[in-house]
Amino acid sequence: MQRHVRDTFVKQSRYQNYRSRAAFKLIEINDRYRLLKPGMIVIECGAAPGSWTQVIVECLHLKPPDCHKTGAVIALDKADFAPIPGAICLPKTDFTSHISQAKILSALNDRKADLILSDMSPNVSGQHDYDHEHQGNFLAKIFNGNQTEKLVKDLSRIFENVRQVKPEASRLDSTELFILATGFKGRHNNEEIL
Ligand SMILES: C[S@@+](CC[C@H](N)C(=O)[O-])C[C@H]1O[C@@H](n2cnc3c(N)ncnc32)[C@H](O)[C@@H]1O
Repeated sequence: MQRHVRDTFVKQSRYQNYRSRAAFKLIEINDRYRLLKPGMIVIECGAAPGSWTQVIVECLHLKPPDCHKTGAVIALDKADFAPIPGAICLPKTDFTSHISQAKILSALNDRKADLILSDMSPNVSGQHDYDHEHQGNFLAKIFNGNQTEKLVKDLSRIFENVRQVKPEASRLDSTELFILATGFKGRHNNEEIL
């Protein structure tokens, strides 16, 4: 009980420093897997309002005045967000557009990324039916083989519809196949897939 009270207090006091409580998700994952280290080049997609970026800046020691010279975080979001000291912020940058990808490459400045993080999610309207219809889809090319059936079965657990698509433009003698999954249903906590 005492520990719970102490942890809650610590969390609350830390919360004051972050732009949103999403920070704690990254803190928890990083505590478990030790992903973020000084000197790393990190690309962070879906960064607004910026609490993950704040955590990354801390862990990479990019925070002025103890800025680490070799590391960097490139934080982008299609929405606008206020700059975070120590981070390279790219607001109004939609990850899916070519222009944005060129912006990211330019910010990388010939460096290679050590870690790519994404907390991207579509904006929800609050209307369940609408959001349900507009939830995530997935399209990926695979080479058809003995694991295709398993992949389709695994995806069927988390998507309403899973189709195997062979476009006419794809050569018949090629094993190339596309898996299209629509209507993301979400996952239960700790559910193992794929
Ligand atoms: C849950 S929020 C991220 C919160 C953030 N990790 C934090 O700690 O403050 C999800 C973000 O993904 C962004 N997003 C969704 N699709 C995107 C895209 N195609 N390109 C860039 N950002 C995107 C949204 O604008 C939204 O700000």
